[in-house]
Amino acid sequence: MKRLSIILSVALAVVMCACAGNKSQQGSQNSNNENMDKKTTLVAYFSATGTTKAAAEKLAQVVDADLHEIQPEQPYTDVDLDWHNQQSRSSVEMKDKSSRPAIKNKVENMDQYTTVYIGYPIWWYVAPTIINTFVEQYNLEGKTVIPFFTSGGSGAGETMKYLTPSAPKANWKEPLNLNGMNVDGIKSLVDSIK
Ligand SMILES: Cc1cc2nc3c(=O)[nH]c(=O)nc-3n(C[C@H](O)[C@H](O)[C@H](O)COP(=O)(O)O)c2cc1C
Repeated sequence: MKRLSIILSVALAVVMCACAGNKSQQGSQNSNNENMDKKTTLVAYFSATGTTKAAAEKLAQVVDADLHEIQPEQPYTDVDLDWHNQQSRSSVEMKDKSSRPAIKNKVENMDQYTTVYIGYPIWWYVAPTIINTFVEQYNLEGKTVIPFFTSGGSGAGETMKYLTPSAPKANWKEPLNLNGMNVDGIKSLVDSIK
């Protein structure tokens, strides 16, 4: 009887060891997979009425990027966006180029990315100043930063003049106009700047 219980104990110990070994192997496989899955490109965007958001989603698909929505601490209402009204929030912010509207959320793992696309609607021929807030929150030194935008028809205007000083050591590329672009159009555009 004693012999039997010794044999059983040894057998149990062998089974337990084998299981533990398997588990630790699985663990390291998982973390390897996680590392392999980590993307090196980020598409971050601000969109007040959804047009830039739709463009950003397509772009992220094309360049195989993580997607991040820049969310204002205080969302923009229709009244805020009224460009006919000189006193509206957007008019007041855009007249003061040093305004830095607060952002509610953050990219926690910015170090992970080597290329960052930053999207926005054109407001008064430039990027909304909340984009300066975003850019100034991170160390973008050495990263390739590619602005993209949607608009009512105008081009990038003076976007770069007001945006690049917010991250002078980033490797800035010219802004991409994604107005009316489908996935194929975006793919051709991105390929053309490689
Ligand atoms: C305050 C404000 C200013 C704008 N200024 C311009 C402009 O200078 N040129 C232009 O073509 N469109 C301008 N637009 C239109 C937006 O750029 C356009 O509708 C954009 O696609 C909206 O993107 P969203 O839906 O992602 O916010 C302006 C819109 C707003 C609300």
